[in-house]
Amino acid sequence: MSGVRLARPVDAQAIAAVEVETWRTTYAGILPDEVLVGLSVDGRTRHWRTELERAPKGIWVWRDNSGAISGFGQCGRQRDLSLPFQGEISMLYVQTDAQDNGIGRQLLLALLATLLASDCRTILTWVLRSNPSRYFYDHMGARALLERQIPVAGHLIDAVGYGWDDPSLVLDRWVRSGHHWAP
Ligand SMILES: CC(C)(COP(=O)(O)OP(=O)(O)OC[C@H]1O[C@@H](n2cnc3c(N)ncnc32)[C@H](O)[C@@H]1OP(=O)(O)O)[C@@H](O)C(=O)NCCC(=O)NCCS
Repeated sequence: MSGVRLARPVDAQAIAAVEVETWRTTYAGILPDEVLVGLSVDGRTRHWRTELERAPKGIWVWRDNSGAISGFGQCGRQRDLSLPFQGEISMLYVQTDAQDNGIGRQLLLALLATLLASDCRTILTWVLRSNPSRYFYDHMGARALLERQIPVAGHLIDAVGYGWDDPSLVLDRWVRSGHHWAP
């Protein structure tokens, strides 16, 4: 059955494959070509295996009916302690041919619920300014609150910080309207 579940170390390669594919489609023309060409599923698999062994509780995947992974997200405590947000969503990617089927929302709800369960009551995510996917976060109840350049693969890129002041309201709203997530 399809749905969200916590990621396991065995998912590292599938997560890396989704990440490399979505970076190349999403960030073409936004990030330098050499960054996108240089991405390697093997390299990213090593990164995700380490992450999954270190802090598996913040990483969720979407498993489709065949058992394949077509999306993932990652969250944790805010790394930049100068920001007035307790939690952070650092990654959310849905395979290009699986987008617009509600998977991103399910993953986001799982991430928000994970952070709330860890007492993170305010949450921020950075999205590159030129990435049209940022309007997804407006739709999901976040507000564009901050602007800065963030380092991405060794380059400083304009980004917008989307924040949720009260993520529990967002969870309630979507769960009440039938967009519940399973775990
Ligand atoms: C952004 C992303 C995660 C959204 O996931 P998705 O599975 O395509 O989105 P969903 O189908 O769950 O969309 C949920 C709702 O948001 C809306 N939505 C999705 N993308 C949107 C966008 N770019 N702008 C405005 N609304 C959007 C959908 O229409 C849907 O609306 P509904 O409530 O009327 O049904 C996905 O498109 C993606 O991975 N994009 C490329 C990578 C990326 O930019 N990631 C985010 C940066 S970290």
